[in-house]
Amino acid sequence: MENNSYLGIDLSTQQLKAVVVDNQLTVLHEAQVQFDNDLPEFRTHAGVVRKGREVWASPVMWVKALDMLMDRLRISGTQFEKIAAISGTAQQHGSVYWQRGSEKVLESLSPDRFMHEQLSGCFSVKESPVWQDSSTSKQCQQLEAAVGGPLKLAEITGSKAYERFTGPQIAKIFQTKPSAYENTERISVVSSFVCSLFLGHYAPIDYADGSGMNLMDITQKKWSKICLEACAPGLSEKLGEPVPSYTLLGPVSNYFVERFDFSTDCKVVAFTGDNPASLIGMRQTKNDIVVSLGTSDTLILWLEKPHTLPYGHVLCNPLNGEEYMALLCFKNGSLTRERIRDDCAEGSWNLFNELLDSTPRGNFGNMGLYFDAQEIIPFVQGDFRYNKAGDRVSRFSSKEVEVRAAIEGQFIARRAHAEDLGLSVGNEMRILATGGASANQTILQVLADVFNADVYVLDIVNSAVLGAAYQAKHAIVHASGSSFKEMVSHLGHPHLVCQPHRDAASIYDPMLKRYRNIIQAITNDHQKL
Ligand code: ADP
Ligand code: XUL
Repeated sequence: MENNSYLGIDLSTQQLKAVVVDNQLTVLHEAQVQFDNDLPEFRTHAGVVRKGREVWASPVMWVKALDMLMDRLRISGTQFEKIAAISGTAQQHGSVYWQRGSEKVLESLSPDRFMHEQLSGCFSVKESPVWQDSSTSKQCQQLEAAVGGPLKLAEITGSKAYERFTGPQIAKIFQTKPSAYENTERISVVSSFVCSLFLGHYAPIDYADGSGMNLMDITQKKWSKICLEACAPGLSEKLGEPVPSYTLLGPVSNYFVERFDFSTDCKVVAFTGDNPASLIGMRQTKNDIVVSLGTSDTLILWLEKPHTLPYGHVLCNPLNGEEYMALLCFKNGSLTRERIRDDCAEGSWNLFNELLDSTPRGNFGNMGLYFDAQEIIPFVQGDFRYNKAGDRVSRFSSKEVEVRAAIEGQFIARRAHAEDLGLSVGNEMRILATGGASANQTILQVLADVFNADVYVLDIVNSAVLGAAYQAKHAIVHASGSSFKEMVSHLGHPHLVCQPHRDAASIYDPMLKRYRNIIQAITNDHQKL
């Protein structure tokens, strides 16, 4: 095994990434393709196309990105013949609709040509809905009504109905494009879609990503008949059976062997969602909370048993068959921070940090909540600014105050909703920060203060893509009876980067209460409208 290496792939919202690690899990090569800049012909903005509440991306763009990524990996010096296994991860919930007859095309790709040229006619729905889509409120209500209410749905599938979840999205395709649905041979989630490209036939959906669909019974680990029937007819054949996340699915396809010199022994391991993959990449333990500050902000908690949550999500754990993870996803993460940076700090993170540092904790009593896009938790959109007296104002007196309000408001919301899930903020808890904005220590200091907890980072490229590479090796290790813990035991510990100030609790505990009152008032106003 000494000479083996492992390939991890991550199809995230804004880019496609790859990382190659050696047998010691040290990074050897990295490559990435940025959708907006590298594939301008698809006219995406931050990786997607938006029309009101509908948000989508083209599966052909994703295939073309993989063609480019493979060439970039080759240029980086990757020795494909040494790769023993491949696994991957992707943005969760999005769906890809393979047209009838497409598996044959996938099985017989010519290694002399790009994949995107050969697969461009294979999608019965040209625009794949992604996780930012919030256009399926009607289908969510229908699904909850069919199973006996939101809590019943949460008990079965780990989540009440969410607009971005795959089940309601499939229901909408069935209702609005019945002939496209009829003409669909297979529905993949984004992770199993990319996996299929490597496998050369349709890849199954893994348990962890399957838990983000409102379709799987997370304790039985099977599709829930009642949920499938409530969404669309004949869904079970179109989805295939779900599998454990660390399943060895089979050898890499002939296309990759012929075109890139992969070994015929190279194994493809089931791909999973980016949040489950982050849990793997961060080597999360039971006392850690992973805070990922990427396009979306997500919080991941380790769960030994499933709970029925009024909001948030319970997913199957990607590392073992018995445990679970809780996930909270906030849509207005980095893109909202970027908007405030552009409005207040001339597009510069350095200037943004100077402004943030120039204001005191608690922001002179000002508080702001910014939801550029329809937020998931709470279900609110718009800018909400309040002054010290508690009056709603249209703007703050300075850019400094606006910048601090944005960051404090985001993290107070993250903490409030994590506490609602049973997280107790305290000394034992470590925050493991990851995602693009975890490079910013000034932002992480606010995170430490708001949660009154130490913040650690790992010296790693990106937790999701690295988690995918780890999972590639883990599947092999698991099959030979060894554990993930042993596999990563030689790796270094996370670094402590920020500690909370002594006055943190006295400042942020009251702000947390204030946040709850504000959200209550906003939601009451919405209900009156
Ligand atoms: P994805 O969720 O698509 O995988 P990443 O985790 O790579 O994305 O995060 C991308 C985001 O990271 C960008 O939108 C950018 O706003 C943010 N980012 C990058 N560097 C910084 C920084 N120094 N400070 C704050 N945010 C940053
Ligand atoms: C999680 C979610 C996002 C996507 C994109 O529920 O919607 O985190 O996985 O990263």
